[in-house]
Amino acid sequence: MSAHAPSVLFVDHAGVLGGAELSLLDLARAFGERAEVLLLSDGPFRALLEARGIPVSVEPLGALRRVKKETRLPSPAAFTDAFRLARRVATHARRRALIYANSQKAFVVSAGAGVLVHRPVVWHLRDILAPPHFSASNVRAAVTLANLRAARVIANSRATAAAFTAAGGRASLVRIVHNGIDPLPFDAVRDEDAAAARLSLGIPKDAFVVSLFGRFHPWKGQQVLLQALAALPAVHALFVGAPLFGEEAFESALHAQARKLGVGDRAHFLGFRLDVPELMRASDVVAHASVYPEPFGRVIVEGMLARRPVIATRDGGVGEIITDGETGVLVPPNDAEALAKTIAM
Ligand code: UDP
Ligand code: GLC
Repeated sequence: MSAHAPSVLFVDHAGVLGGAELSLLDLARAFGERAEVLLLSDGPFRALLEARGIPVSVEPLGALRRVKKETRLPSPAAFTDAFRLARRVATHARRRALIYANSQKAFVVSAGAGVLVHRPVVWHLRDILAPPHFSASNVRAAVTLANLRAARVIANSRATAAAFTAAGGRASLVRIVHNGIDPLPFDAVRDEDAAAARLSLGIPKDAFVVSLFGRFHPWKGQQVLLQALAALPAVHALFVGAPLFGEEAFESALHAQARKLGVGDRAHFLGFRLDVPELMRASDVVAHASVYPEPFGRVIVEGMLARRPVIATRDGGVGEIITDGETGVLVPPNDAEALAKTIAM
């Protein structure tokens, strides 16, 4: 980090370990003593930041928690809490040169704080701002605020940037920065670690294993891989991840779907894991199956770093990572048959 790097207040609405938070962890570490993180929810992300020596505090979201990406009109209580949080963010920002918002909710309150303490606000946009990911009114509000208040919008892919400008976002604000991912944890996995990880799962030694890493959410497409599994009698699948934002009903539905398809003994639900590099190396193929356009998809890069063939759905930022047929294979979204055929190739 250059000696001239500004001192930064990073703001994130989540306390869980999603891709946006794991990316922020790397970024905040690079800023060292010039970084401070403010989370709008408590959770394991706080502990991880603390373990890395990054100053972190939590200001709970309150009623703003109930505002979802699909929400059309936030409640009056949500507005009150947005003002309350903007003042709290402003207090932290007084000690810093820049406010850096790592999520949409964080940007809304940071934009308010920026006005209060006259600090520039950078929004790291990690979502494709368009239906079906977001309601049209939600997109309009976010883009209008960005045009008025963001000093820069950092997009995690060209696809994310294109959705922002298509929704009326000012192109001059945007810089595209793909996620950088540290190869070291992947290079450090020895063959015996991968073998031990596989053994611990109780999967037959010579079975073919395909793995999907990702939080449980219908748009991440776990249901499509399950369906594909039904057409691949000898294949085992690992589902690595958990419902991070209240999608427990979806998780139960996946278990029911596995039973119904008769693949319960070959579908392994491992929950949220911290040994992703080992589990990737213990797999024969890494699959990505998002049914909506993926803004970036860290898991795709990670599969490549683990030196595993990666199959991914073609929309969003994925085509900026994989050259089809050369560095991976792209399949259409929500097409279990195409996914099964590609796994069997
Ligand atoms: N991940 C993890 N443990 C899990 C499942 C996923 O650490 O059990 C990590 C994964 O390695 C990746 C991130 O979560 O770094 C997911 O990021 P991605 O960009 O693929 O998707 P997002 O959840 O941000 O939409
Ligand atoms: C978001 C996106 C994901 C991206 C991650 C990191 O969570 O859903 O595609 O990789 O942010 O930028």
